[in-house]
Amino acid sequence: MKEIKIESILTVYDNIEELPTDVSKLMDQATLARKNSYSPYSKFSVGAAILLDNNEVVLGSNQENASYPSGLCAERTAIYYAGSQYPEAKILKMAIVAGSRIRQTITPIPPCGACRQAIAEYEVKQVAPIEIYFMGETGKVVKSHSLANLLPLVFDKSVL
Ligand code: THU
Repeated sequence: MKEIKIESILTVYDNIEELPTDVSKLMDQATLARKNSYSPYSKFSVGAAILLDNNEVVLGSNQENASYPSGLCAERTAIYYAGSQYPEAKILKMAIVAGSRIRQTITPIPPCGACRQAIAEYEVKQVAPIEIYFMGETGKVVKSHSLANLLPLVFDKSVL
């Protein structure tokens, strides 16, 4: 028997101004995307902005449904749009801004497990890391240098 230790390394920026300019612009776009969130049930709005290697930026926001499980998170809305519109492009970075409309959200909000799994698929497909940046409405920004760093023991095509 042995124990295995798995570590994730995150970079924490104090605020959006500390980010490199291209990333702070991407965060601004995620903030814009968040305005299109359709979230009458949770009142939790999320925006995502993806930068591709062809310089296109793809936006997404969470889209809810009266049949709750039919809704989709912002990250998956954006990444499936990117995959369907630009199947050859590599995804360089994803910025995520999230927060409740009922109370202030100042802690960084990481992507949910289902979104991590969806993003992992594209990271494996393109054989190159996708940088993930996430924050609340304001305050600190967390960077992960790859999706794999956020989802150790990923289930991917290598096991099929
Ligand atoms: N949501 C996202 O858009 N992304 C996540 O990573 C977590 C949750 C959405 C789904 C739902 O519309 C609302 O936030 C509350 O869960």
